[in-house]
Amino acid sequence: MLGSAGAGLLVAGPAVGAPAPAPGTSAPAPTAPAARRTAARDTGMPERFVWGAGTSSYQIEGSPLRDSGGESVWDVFCRQPGAILDGSSGELACDHHRRHREDVALMKRLGLGAYRFSIAWPRLFPDGTGRRHEPGFAFYDRLIDDLLEAKITPWITLFHWDYPQALQARGGWMQRESADWFADYAQAVVARYSDRVRHWLTLNEPEVFILLGHHLGRHAPGEKRPWPELLRICHHVLLAHGKGVQAIRAAARQPVEVGYVAALHPGIPATTAEADLAAARRFSFGGLAGWLLDPVYTGRYPEEQLAEYGAQVPKHDPADLKTIAQPLDLFAMNTYQGAVVRAGPDGRPQALPLPQGHARTAFRIFDMVPQALYWGPRWYHERYKLPVYITENGMSSIDWVSLDGRIDDPQRIDFLRRYLQELRRAIADGADVRGYFAWSLLDNFEWAEGYRERFGLIFIDYATQKRTPKASFDWYRDTIRSHGATL
Ligand code: FCB
Repeated sequence: MLGSAGAGLLVAGPAVGAPAPAPGTSAPAPTAPAARRTAARDTGMPERFVWGAGTSSYQIEGSPLRDSGGESVWDVFCRQPGAILDGSSGELACDHHRRHREDVALMKRLGLGAYRFSIAWPRLFPDGTGRRHEPGFAFYDRLIDDLLEAKITPWITLFHWDYPQALQARGGWMQRESADWFADYAQAVVARYSDRVRHWLTLNEPEVFILLGHHLGRHAPGEKRPWPELLRICHHVLLAHGKGVQAIRAAARQPVEVGYVAALHPGIPATTAEADLAAARRFSFGGLAGWLLDPVYTGRYPEEQLAEYGAQVPKHDPADLKTIAQPLDLFAMNTYQGAVVRAGPDGRPQALPLPQGHARTAFRIFDMVPQALYWGPRWYHERYKLPVYITENGMSSIDWVSLDGRIDDPQRIDFLRRYLQELRRAIADGADVRGYFAWSLLDNFEWAEGYRERFGLIFIDYATQKRTPKASFDWYRDTIRSHGATL
């Protein structure tokens, strides 16, 4: 999760004074056959479209320390006074580790086709490498088996930020060896579960954990390293991804689909003028986010950032880029919003501020910009030619249990509906989008924001651990049931 300062560093182009036109009103899609568009609107999503929801280990499970596993950088970070807004931690979170059966039953009721979750590395390897913690392995065995029994396809993210503290103590991502630590871990996980699991995602949002965790100090491990060191970390993280993919393919016991999850903030053209379209496209590949895309999908660091970062870019063996650019089966993007962009006087992208009073979510850094799910898939599919999956999208709202016991969250319903409509429009206009994962299945520990932000389709009462589906849960269930026709 990005703070506003972080978002600024990830993307290109400063904001300018002139307000943006209401997004979507001024930038119709490049034309597509009208008949096809109508068909997609009436019939919902394409036949094999995957309907999912996601979570991550540290945010829901309860710390591995409760199960004699190892410590992660988040366990340590949460103990620092002031690190987490409400002074909380993921020590218990949603206690999913003990309540996963109940959660899978709820997923079944929701009609999920797929469930994206992550594995807590220190739950399997308390020291990060070497010694295995069998009860940790057994936990994911049970979870996977329960999911399969409920006919829900598991999508596993290998790393969603809960880095083993033992490896952090050995220098963490600053060490080139960190790529091998990750590959060894990936190998062990895939060897264990790939008889039942086909969908693998290596890393979640590297740009976010690198920037917030190692430069801005706002996420674990709370480091404030200068930019050249950050670029070194980027290189090692990319290398970990590449070696991880190699390990996954080598260990897989059946054909697998492998991806890498980026946090993306696409550019939405302010008008249909060619210059604005070009600026919005360029914006979508800018900053640190873009720096971490091209190497993975094309085997090259992007020219624009190379020029900008100059001598700060670490010297590296060109063979590394070959390792990094392993063929992938899909393009996974987490997107919560985008920016309306126009071409500045020098042609460079300029992000425009949203009109005053524009719809925003409870989380102060996220506005509602549904067109991000129209333009994003188009830009990334155009450049990388892979089928696109939205691996996270959703919103935080101020939910509580009403006197009648219901949790009404009409704004979440409206938000999801608008974003999914835009996604459907992208598909109708030719973007190859194959699936969507709502964030999140459950309310959970929202990193530095603690429990103040509620992103779930299911409400958690943290004192009792009682789960209550919100109105959006019923809405999403009906949407899934109609395969998007009711959108
Ligand atoms: C993303 C993270 C996820 C959650 C959502 C709201 O950046 O991947 O864990 O925090 O934001």
